[in-house]
Amino acid sequence: MSSLADFSDITQHDRSLAEWTWLKVGGPAEHLVEPRSIDEVAAVVRCCHETGVPCRVLGSGSNLLVRDEGVQGVVLRLSEEAFGEVSVEGTSVTAGAGALLSHLISQSVRSGLSGLETLVGIPGTVGGALRGNAGGRSGDVGQSVQSVTVMTATGDQFVRSEDELSFGYRHSSINELVVLECTFSLSEGDIDETLKRMRKLWIMRKATQPMAHQSAGCIFKNPRGISAGSLVEQAGLKGESIGGATISERHANFIITTPEATSSDVLALIEQARGQVAKQFGVDLELEIGIW
Ligand code: EPU
Repeated sequence: MSSLADFSDITQHDRSLAEWTWLKVGGPAEHLVEPRSIDEVAAVVRCCHETGVPCRVLGSGSNLLVRDEGVQGVVLRLSEEAFGEVSVEGTSVTAGAGALLSHLISQSVRSGLSGLETLVGIPGTVGGALRGNAGGRSGDVGQSVQSVTVMTATGDQFVRSEDELSFGYRHSSINELVVLECTFSLSEGDIDETLKRMRKLWIMRKATQPMAHQSAGCIFKNPRGISAGSLVEQAGLKGESIGGATISERHANFIITTPEATSSDVLALIEQARGQVAKQFGVDLELEIGIW
């Protein structure tokens, strides 16, 4: 049986995760492991399974709050270039899970392909975007998926095709431990038209969201189509602060942080918003961000 000591050359212990999250708060990972190949991912995952060590995968940290006490067990970071490659073949685009969504979008658009441009401005990696079916009012990532290569907690790899997957509002049926790769089926489009659409969406996002600040995007899901941001605003919480965390004046479903903020500040503000919205409107807000 392997042990985590076998992976010492790719492991950092008690490694702070704050710098890798967009909120820039939170504690360390007990073991931060950066595999160099898919075989190494499988070996680490298998080792965790056999030794009962919890294992999670970090994307680009744009939809994540890490608690101040940090994370027990292994955090895998697919940072090697091999996990971030994007290749185009006809109207199909294949991207590694570690590729940034923005990179995937620009490569696709540059190749004259349309379908992903509506995701412009959404942060995150391809893996993270697929798991939570990232998107907005103009579409989501799941709409273009042809197949996804995943790895189970026991290190087994397989491909799930479109008809074995379902995507809903900020939800996907992908429940395996690791997303490795995804192939998207796009359509040929006019580059200038696609760029125009992208520019329009980008301007809209910049006008309505606090994009220049440290944030994790929307904190809550929209309950039954109602805007969570407008509920938090109507509860009178725009601009509300706890420590270094503030509910954005621009969009009340965003919490922005200063360099002094702690994860506890953000959690306390989330609880305050949830409590007030429940009390005033009888609506239970569900988190969109992940909390570790
Ligand atoms: N609104 C307010 N106050 C606010 C925020 C919004 O009254 O503080 C109102 C707006 O005026 C608008 C309505 O609520 O009439 C909807 O707002 P917006 O268009 O900003 O969309 P949203 O529903 O708040 C969703 C996604 C965003 C995505 C945008 C644009 C969720 C939780 N949010 O926001 O996604 O960027 O649409 O497509 O689904 C994210 O998931 O992290 C995210 C930012």
